[in-house]
Amino acid sequence: MTVQLAPSVLNADFARLADEAAVVADVADWLHVDVMDGHFVPNLTVGLPVVESLIKHATLPIDCHLMIEEPDRWAPGYAEAGAGNVTIHAEAASSPVRTLRAIRAAGARAGLAINPATAVEPYAHLVGEFDMLLLMTVEPGFGGQHFLDLVLPKIRRARELVGGRDSSIWLQVDGGVTEETIARCAEAGADVFVAGSAVYGAADPAAAVTDLRKIAARAWGPSEPG
Ligand code: DX5
Ligand code: ZN
Repeated sequence: MTVQLAPSVLNADFARLADEAAVVADVADWLHVDVMDGHFVPNLTVGLPVVESLIKHATLPIDCHLMIEEPDRWAPGYAEAGAGNVTIHAEAASSPVRTLRAIRAAGARAGLAINPATAVEPYAHLVGEFDMLLLMTVEPGFGGQHFLDLVLPKIRRARELVGGRDSSIWLQVDGGVTEETIARCAEAGADVFVAGSAVYGAADPAAAVTDLRKIAARAWGPSEPG
């Protein structure tokens, strides 16, 4: 498994999303889109119509992070629209198994997310039902928050639960991931890194992605080229 970078457009210019996506198209692996409904989190961003348009204009696959209530109702629509990955929150899903299966059936990778205060162990038996586990490293809702080091032991336990470093199940971290914190995440076992303000707040977002990748790859271990 190689490390992957998923810039979050939450800190990009929402009126120029296609251009902002293009800026990182040659250096990133995914474009992370934070869908917030003003209920599950105290912030409101974009929904399916904007994601549908972005899918048409962006060359990177879209990584949809749904911070919404009733993901069981809404998540399959994002997969049907052509998102490459759709992640739902365990705290919000009433029927996570059915919803994760519906996401996969619609042709997308299925992700399960948990907040900093949510334990990973209760979801260990669902490992066969998702392609990626997202561990929030801030409370969800806003970009630019400080990374919560208290999540690091959970990243280590999650890495064991998904089957070690050769697992086909990806382990994503999201929130406060910067040049200062990304190495700690990779050492703990994360392999997919969301970065919002560290990329779109940088003078050169593409260079920021390349720098983050280098630091993560070095920390991930000797098997990682680059
Ligand atoms: C926060 C979002 C993140 C956010 C990360 O709830 O899920 O994806 O964009 O932004 P930074 O990297 O600035 O913490
Ligand atoms: Zn996110």
